[in-house]
Amino acid sequence: MTNGEQYKYYYIHTFGCQMNVSDSEKVAFLLEQKGYRRTEDMGKADIVIVNTCSVREKAEQKAHSLLGRLRQTKTVKPHLVTGVVGCLAQQWGARYFKKMPHLDFVCGTHNIDKIPAMIEAVIKGGRKVEETRFYAHVPSLDLCVPSTDGRLSAFVTIMQGCNNFCSYCIVPYVRGREESRPSRDIVREISALARQGVKEITLLGQNVNSYGSTLTEAVDFSTLLKMVSAIEGIERIRFTTSHPKDFSEALIDSFVSIDKVCEHIHLPVQSGSNEVLKRMGRGYTIEEYVGKLEHLMSVCPSISITTDIIVGFPGETDEYFQKTIDLMKKVRFDNIFSFKYSDRLGVAAAGFDGKVPETIKAQRLQILQALQSSITLEKNRAQEGKIESVLVEGTSKGCPSDVTGRTRGNRIVNFTGSSFLVGTTVPVRIAEGYAHSLRGRTLSGEER
Ligand code: SAH
Ligand code: SF4
Ligand code: F3S
Repeated sequence: MTNGEQYKYYYIHTFGCQMNVSDSEKVAFLLEQKGYRRTEDMGKADIVIVNTCSVREKAEQKAHSLLGRLRQTKTVKPHLVTGVVGCLAQQWGARYFKKMPHLDFVCGTHNIDKIPAMIEAVIKGGRKVEETRFYAHVPSLDLCVPSTDGRLSAFVTIMQGCNNFCSYCIVPYVRGREESRPSRDIVREISALARQGVKEITLLGQNVNSYGSTLTEAVDFSTLLKMVSAIEGIERIRFTTSHPKDFSEALIDSFVSIDKVCEHIHLPVQSGSNEVLKRMGRGYTIEEYVGKLEHLMSVCPSISITTDIIVGFPGETDEYFQKTIDLMKKVRFDNIFSFKYSDRLGVAAAGFDGKVPETIKAQRLQILQALQSSITLEKNRAQEGKIESVLVEGTSKGCPSDVTGRTRGNRIVNFTGSSFLVGTTVPVRIAEGYAHSLRGRTLSGEER
């Protein structure tokens, strides 16, 4: 072993979005190549890596609580190597060594390919290391990680960074400028995943709708979808996240013209008020947003629509908040991710006036979530009686005679079935809709 016998096991904890999950997989792949072995037991690890998120205050607190606990671990296990990676690492850089002297390395979002070398520098050189430089071309974007055995679904990064600078958001500061990956690299990676048995692909980026804008080749997102759909073995294509201002006619058409594109769109609206949207710098009005959705629903009536909403943005009055509630009642999203606004260091909105008190934010969040729960339940119940094609992902944890999978609209379905069904796509009659999932049954002979 090249890294010294004492250093065998690594543990990675991942906070934040799918982009971070994907980055952690890349780090794990690189460390395995160097002979390290992954453990899910932090107590057994010789190297602990915390991949962090800074998008909201709560995400930051969770990461800092774990990082803080490592101080104690290190006093009982002095050889432990500790590293902070990801968006908080990018933001704080070497200042972490002052803030948390028990940390050994700090690695920003453009530098994860260097983690094995950084760990080696800590172990062999006995020094602290930091890498938070930004690059015009992010080296880790080129990394293709093979699928783990038996996996049916995989996430593939198609672009990195963001150029939008929504006034509340730290992502452009910690992920850098937008960079699209050449289409041939994406197709090559997905083809390899398909050969390993992957059937469902989710294309990842902060704003996938602007895919291609930094490339010399003439390719946009809908063209990329066509290229991916031509890959043999891939049955389902999903993508996240879409930005309403770049959500194009051509993309709407893809839901109809490309069979493999699943009928689900995550289209973050953030607020139902034009005044708030303007201060957020989102680049669309609520009328434009609704207009695009109405068009999509008219050509693809089975589309399932999810969104992100922020409550308590600076200057959000009761009246503006009511506009968000009105929007939810009008669109009837299938599901939402909702957040209390929190100030992020250095973003424009941190300096805005009209800050909303915590208690009001909490009340608004509660109102909004209660409304959404009832809409989601109604929409799940409305699925009853329908026949849905379900990609069976595994046996159910709670009940071994059940299998579980997802509809094309991304709803979870459980039904009685054999584990032989795992990996196949089967038609399922929806029998009952619940708050978070559906109950189905396989079709009888005459129903098929
Ligand atoms: N690129 C995606 C997602 C970015 S982060 C997009 O453009 O929508 C995911 C979500 O976190 C955002 O959609 C937003 O709803 C929320 N968010 C970002 N910054 C926030 C902040 N400062 N306070 C509260 N929520 C925030
Ligand atoms: Fe943040 Fe806006 Fe970029 Fe999304 S589009 S990552 S919300 S700046
Ligand atoms: Fe968080 Fe960074 Fe993703 S801030 S949401 S981990 S891009």
